[in-house]
Amino acid sequence: MEKENCIISLQNVSKVFDGVTVVDNVNLDITKGEFVTLLGPSGCGKTTTLRMIAGFEMPTEGKILLNGKDITKVPPYKRPVNTVFQRYALFPHLDVYDNVAFGLKLKKVPVKVVNKKGVEKIKFKHLSAKEIDAKVARALKIVDLEELENRDISTLSGGQQQRVAIARAIVNEPEILLLDEPLGALDLKMRKEMQLELKEMHKKLGITFIYVTHDQEEALTMSDTIVVMKTGEIQQVGTPIDIYNEPINAYVANFIGESNIYNATMVGKLKVKFLGHTFKCVDDFKTNEKVDVVIRPEDVEMKKVSKDYDGDKMTAQIVNKIFKGIHYEYVLMIGKNEIVAQSTKEFAVGDTVSIDIEPSNIQIMKKEITKNVYPEAWINKNNQVVISNEPFDCDITQLLPNSHIDDDGYLVDKDGRRYDLNDADVIAEISLDAIELSDDHDVGQIEGTIVSIVYKGDHYQVMIRTEEEEDFIVDTLYSWNENDIVSMLIKKEDIKLTLKGDIKKYEVQQ
Ligand SMILES: Nc1ncnc2c1ncn2[C@@H]1O[C@H](COP(=O)(O)OP(=O)(O)O)[C@@H](O)[C@H]1O
Ligand SMILES: [Mg+2]
Repeated sequence: MEKENCIISLQNVSKVFDGVTVVDNVNLDITKGEFVTLLGPSGCGKTTTLRMIAGFEMPTEGKILLNGKDITKVPPYKRPVNTVFQRYALFPHLDVYDNVAFGLKLKKVPVKVVNKKGVEKIKFKHLSAKEIDAKVARALKIVDLEELENRDISTLSGGQQQRVAIARAIVNEPEILLLDEPLGALDLKMRKEMQLELKEMHKKLGITFIYVTHDQEEALTMSDTIVVMKTGEIQQVGTPIDIYNEPINAYVANFIGESNIYNATMVGKLKVKFLGHTFKCVDDFKTNEKVDVVIRPEDVEMKKVSKDYDGDKMTAQIVNKIFKGIHYEYVLMIGKNEIVAQSTKEFAVGDTVSIDIEPSNIQIMKKEITKNVYPEAWINKNNQVVISNEPFDCDITQLLPNSHIDDDGYLVDKDGRRYDLNDADVIAEISLDAIELSDDHDVGQIEGTIVSIVYKGDHYQVMIRTEEEEDFIVDTLYSWNENDIVSMLIKKEDIKLTLKGDIKKYEVQQ
């Protein structure tokens, strides 16, 4: 069901190119008069979505409604829609006026005529020169180019050319203006100016704008509604404020604005643990659920404390400081983790600060668990990976293509360079079905207690917590009981490693 005042409704719209789904079951209702922005990285399907609205592409599946009517099969020129592209595609041999008037001169509009017999008929007629003049003048006024109507296109700046392109698109008085990264070719200063001007034009015209960009700041500045996309799918739809303050997942949080994102675990009602510390929060998730948390830099409250502070607040060291005009931006280390903070207060690099975060500023997001990820693992002197204080045999040659290990235990690349990975920080990943559980304590490498069991339809998902409070999530066909102590066996080839930082720093100098 579309919402009220809906001008465009995409219903289960998909587009497949050569067997690849680039727009994946999109459902979106756009309200009349709104400034809507499709936001997402390059290749996520923004342009394809826009082209389907314009009618340049047919959806492979689903339908598109305009004011409640199915227009899926209506050709582009019959849709009350016009598009402004990143590359303006102006006619270089025509002046400003003729570029804007071009479409109008070709256009035929329906007029009522009465024939000799007195019967009313609809005839299609060209616009008169006077009508064209009035329309062009109005369009040029909206884009603030009245004075330049006789100028050659080639004498205009990029910003001015883009305005001509916009004038040409709005001169037909479309109900919907589609804008595909229209400011992409402009320099930063011009882009900022045009952002504000586009917003003004939107207000003056009162029509619906559907805008495409990969620039989150642009989206936040201009839009009434932002649609965040990822690989052809809509992730979240909301106002800029909603999307900034309440991102639905880590992808959106990361895409919108600067943020600190951590793996976290619910450790009780309205209590969440991350960075080794338990915080109060306001989002209610199940105890033991794995979640992502987002902390915006401006929400990290710092207070200077002495280096040997032993209160119950989390502490951090300031390692970097940049003055940003109104506030400072600090990079802090909490053990091996970074947190970015903004504050108008001045601290010094090297200061130890305690950290407070208001419960309502801890944004908790549902996490789709697809594997176990240990971002704080490291390699020991036996080339084992240490997770939760426990060494596991692993294959470190995966850290470097075409490498092997020599008799001295160094990793050797194809050119004979040697690397000593003792103490190297790595991210270890283990898939959920690669961990074997046993109640025989001698079977596995590490032990833990089952803290939760969820039935997933055809298997159980079990969470096991070690003494070091590290969690392992395991998909298993067997049923276990909460509080069982189990031993876990992980095969060497099932541990995927990624080195943190450049391998060059581990090279052994001969
Ligand atoms: N006509 C086409 N034929 C085949 N693949 C296409 C075509 N148009 C777009 N694609 C592919 O579809 C995906 C989405 O493209 P696009 O909608 O242009 O993304 P965006 O505008 O978000 O950068 C890309 O992988 C692109 O290569
Ligand atoms: Mg595009």
